[in-house]
Amino acid sequence: MQMGKLATLVLLYAVSFWSMVGTGEAQLKTVLINCGTNSSVDVDGRRWVGDLAANNNLTISPAPVADPAAMSGNTSLGPIYGSARVFSGGLNYTFQQVQGDYFLRLHFCPFALDNHNVNESVFGVAANGLGLLSQYNVSTDIATKNMELQRSGSNISTYLIKEFFLSIGSNELVVEFLPLKGSFGFVNGLELVASEDSLFAGAISKVGGNSANLNVSGRGMETMYRLNVGGSRINPSEDPDLQRTWEVDTGYMTNVDAGSQIRNNSNITYASSNDSSVAPLRVYETARTMSNNQVLEKRFNMSWKVTVDPGFDYLIRLHFCELLFGQPNQRNFRIYVNNRTAADNFDIYARAGGKNRAYHQDYLDAVSSRVNTLWIQLGPDTATGASGTDALLNGLEIYKLSRNGNLAYVGASNPAQNTANNSKARVLLVGIGAGVGSVLILAFVATIVFLLWRRRSRKNGGKNNAPGWRPLFLHGASLNTANAKEAAGTKNQFGSVASTRLERRFTVAEIRAATKNFDENMVIGVGGFGKVYRGEIEDGTLAAIKRAHPQSQQGLAEFETEIEMLSKLRHRHLVSMIGFCEEQNEMILVYEYMANGTLRSHLFGSDLPPLSWRRRLEVCIGAARGLHYLHTGADRGIIHRDVKTTNILLDENFVAKMSDFGLSKTGPALEHTHVSTAVKGSFGYLDPEYFRRQQLTQKSDVYSFGVVLFEVVCARAVINPSLPKDQINLAEWALRWQRERSLETIIDPRLRGQYSPESMKKFGEIAEKCLADEGKCRPTMGEVLWHLEYVLQLHDAWLRANDEGSSSLHVESSEDRQAGGGGGGGGAEERRNPLFTAEGNGESAAGDD
Ligand SMILES: *[C@@H]1O[C@H](CO)[C@@H](O)[C@H](O)[C@H]1NC(C)=O
Ligand SMILES: *[C@@H]1O[C@H](CO)[C@@H](O)[C@H](O)[C@H]1NC(C)=O
Ligand SMILES: *[C@@H]1O[C@H](CO)[C@@H](O)[C@H](O)[C@H]1NC(C)=O
Ligand SMILES: *[C@@H]1O[C@H](CO)[C@@H](O)[C@H](O)[C@H]1NC(C)=O
Ligand SMILES: *[C@@H]1O[C@H](CO)[C@@H](O)[C@H](O)[C@H]1NC(C)=O
Ligand SMILES: *[C@@H]1O[C@H](CO)[C@@H](O)[C@H](O)[C@H]1NC(C)=O
Ligand SMILES: *[C@@H]1O[C@H](CO)[C@@H](O)[C@H](O)[C@H]1NC(C)=O
Ligand SMILES: *[C@@H]1O[C@H](CO)[C@@H](O)[C@H](O)[C@H]1NC(C)=O
Ligand SMILES: *[C@@H]1O[C@H](CO)[C@@H](O)[C@H](O)[C@H]1NC(C)=O
Ligand SMILES: *[C@@H]1O[C@H](CO)[C@@H](O)[C@H](O)[C@H]1NC(C)=O
Ligand SMILES: *[C@@H]1O[C@H](CO)[C@@H](O)[C@H](O)[C@H]1NC(C)=O
Ligand SMILES: *[C@@H]1O[C@H](CO)[C@@H](O)[C@H](O)[C@H]1NC(C)=O
Repeated sequence: MQMGKLATLVLLYAVSFWSMVGTGEAQLKTVLINCGTNSSVDVDGRRWVGDLAANNNLTISPAPVADPAAMSGNTSLGPIYGSARVFSGGLNYTFQQVQGDYFLRLHFCPFALDNHNVNESVFGVAANGLGLLSQYNVSTDIATKNMELQRSGSNISTYLIKEFFLSIGSNELVVEFLPLKGSFGFVNGLELVASEDSLFAGAISKVGGNSANLNVSGRGMETMYRLNVGGSRINPSEDPDLQRTWEVDTGYMTNVDAGSQIRNNSNITYASSNDSSVAPLRVYETARTMSNNQVLEKRFNMSWKVTVDPGFDYLIRLHFCELLFGQPNQRNFRIYVNNRTAADNFDIYARAGGKNRAYHQDYLDAVSSRVNTLWIQLGPDTATGASGTDALLNGLEIYKLSRNGNLAYVGASNPAQNTANNSKARVLLVGIGAGVGSVLILAFVATIVFLLWRRRSRKNGGKNNAPGWRPLFLHGASLNTANAKEAAGTKNQFGSVASTRLERRFTVAEIRAATKNFDENMVIGVGGFGKVYRGEIEDGTLAAIKRAHPQSQQGLAEFETEIEMLSKLRHRHLVSMIGFCEEQNEMILVYEYMANGTLRSHLFGSDLPPLSWRRRLEVCIGAARGLHYLHTGADRGIIHRDVKTTNILLDENFVAKMSDFGLSKTGPALEHTHVSTAVKGSFGYLDPEYFRRQQLTQKSDVYSFGVVLFEVVCARAVINPSLPKDQINLAEWALRWQRERSLETIIDPRLRGQYSPESMKKFGEIAEKCLADEGKCRPTMGEVLWHLEYVLQLHDAWLRANDEGSSSLHVESSEDRQAGGGGGGGGAEERRNPLFTAEGNGESAAGDD
């Protein structure tokens, strides 16, 4: 026996199973134990030694009865899962010659054994007195893990590896297993891998606090997640120092599309020479950057969401390596941990000291005892003046820190147990259950309230309305063609043909006649709801005819909203409805035709002659009047929600009218119900505060209107991906120039010399105020309107002064010449930019993050 041990030992030396470090005391570097057998196996170039194979440096107590055959498992999952050590009493694995920091990995794989059902196995594990697992049921843990994997679309796993990081001071490590009384425990493999002592020695920033050296490694940790962000799985053999596994991050992203993968494996080096074992270089060769940065609103984040045990502190290690930019200040972003800012103005290049430099940063955050998720989010830092607002991440590790000498969390455990821990856990579960319950009840009540409110508001809205979604049916039912014709002739004091007329009900046959049977040549616009046709109703009146997609459910809701809104609203600066048609499953709206189409078509992207500064001001004032009426005129106040230049239409006299009420919401009443609605609106115009807080106010329209003002003066798209990075988003770009009081630099060159500088200055200030980050700092539409009128006065005074000097500056002439009826169309949106339609929602953003 003794001789056998010695011989094995010599053999082990020969295959260099024990690696020696240091010159003085010998220390174990890597030990891989194949439990429940005397045979050793090689896996991926790593040698696993049977726990019964004789050697001095692992002691099992009590000494096992050698009966490997009885413990044979299933080798098809991996050689080491072919056997397990099964024990019904306490069992200690003791390693000697260990000092310093180590990763300890425990391998568990359920097996079938005649007299043991794995489902009945419950046990605890401790390492040198530090609790690692308590009341541990491998089957439960695998089932939980697999639920997570399945949710993320990954393959499920039939085995489990638990990894811990331990600081061993005593030169000995006792891994103690203790089954629950009457139950049994098992283990398939043990791994002990020495780490550099400096692995966790660096400074750690506390989320929302100061940077500190917290001696985390001294506390003992459990690895919860280790992800190679944007890259492929890295197996232990590919991380030779520490033999870690790096998983793919895809399954943990709340929206995978938010981060696109990038890769560059040229010449990456560690930013600090101490870092060589922090992560293999492969982790830094791949990354995710914000894929939507080019097209979408820049306030979207890349988010990773992981499940963690409540009530512990977590160490979050983020790995970075700038792969693209060769100078600082190109990529500045914010890091959020559980929705709190962990770092802002984060510039990898500056921190790592260059491109292709592998760098990491640690954060510490406490997770409350009621929360079992951890969110890591990276997003643009728009507060800083940096040019780059993209974010990048290469790797993510999450470690749980011990609490009161314990890493074990007892979650859903064996109810037969009634230990103190267990009853605490049950209390916790009941607490969480009750929490979830009350949230559900609240949501249910809110829904009922909302539905009741909607019913009531519809009834009240139409006074004598029948139920159903078509209030117009009653408005329009009594009207016939003669009435409509008569009404069409009457112009009220505002000059709008339709504004005094009630809606008329059309038959499908009439609509078909008006649109030449929905002739494609008559299409003047396409939207999410369907198409808009130009049509001539029988009295010769031109109309814009909007036909809803019969299939589109979303379109239907918006269609309904639009009818509700338009039937209530009458204003010179709102597009009016002539009538509607709802038969044979058709849902069609007929609007007054807006001869000059969308405001946007007169700003850029068409051959139409440019609008003069004066005309632009008039159009802005008209649109502001329309919005002001929406916000204050109606009973409750209405939020348009989709203010943009394609929703500002111009009639034959260039009178601006707001259109497209499909997304509109009545104001306060809705908010009081606290029903969270999906964020809707258009990219480039979307109020960041609305996006952050999902709270809808009229100030969101003010923000969008501010973007419109900049668009009017700069005559470019609000999002133009073909421009250099810092210019893509007009709101940010123009705001930057405006803040430097040099908006003139970027205005529409066709305005040069034709505007009063004073009016331009004032105009820029208004737009800037509209774009204030916080809604409460923005002016009301009434104030905006007042200021715009003042701007027009300034400009007119300047025009008069110039006219006296020279008439060559008279700028109205180009428009006087202009022929009506070109370009766009009435009630229509422009044809959609293919870049946006890829989002599936047209230009409209919809999300419920
Ligand atoms: C392993 O155990 C089996 C059965 O107990 C025995 O026959 C075999 O010799 C052992 N092998 C070694 C290398 O000890
Ligand atoms: C195992 O432990 C003994 C003393 O207990 C020691 O002499 C020997 O060097 C150790 N072997 C290895 C491989 O570390
Ligand atoms: C071993 O595991 C594989 C995959 O889970 C399974 O198909 C096979 O039936 C198992 N064999 C035994 C003997 O349990
Ligand atoms: C295992 O080790 C612990 C302390 O290191 C000791 O209290 C316990 O009795 C040991 N168990 C067995 C079965 O040797
Ligand atoms: C263990 O429990 C799971 C789920 O309850 C079940 O699918 C599985 O068949 C059980 N295994 C055994 C060996 O009883
Ligand atoms: C262990 O987990 C499995 C699967 O969730 C379950 O069927 C079994 O009842 C659990 N065993 C005990 C003792 O709690
Ligand atoms: C899932 O399993 C299939 C088949 O075994 C394999 O081809 C695929 O690569 C696996 N996917 C992942 C993400 O591991
Ligand atoms: C870290 O904590 C360990 C265990 O509590 C302790 O032994 C060690 O001295 C501490 N190190 C420092 C630098 O505080
Ligand atoms: C990768 O980085 C190197 C060095 O910075 C650069 O020359 C090369 O163009 C990059 N390759 C790609 C595909 O971006
Ligand atoms: C990689 O590094 C070497 C040595 O530092 C240098 O000579 C070479 O030009 C680098 N290659 C690239 C693509 O940057
Ligand atoms: C590297 O580690 C040594 C010793 O642990 C320390 O003195 C030195 O400051 C570290 N260097 C850096 C750049 O962190
Ligand atoms: C963080 O925000 C997300 C989404 O807004 C929310 O679902 C989650 O509960 C928040 N987490 C915490 C810890 O507040």
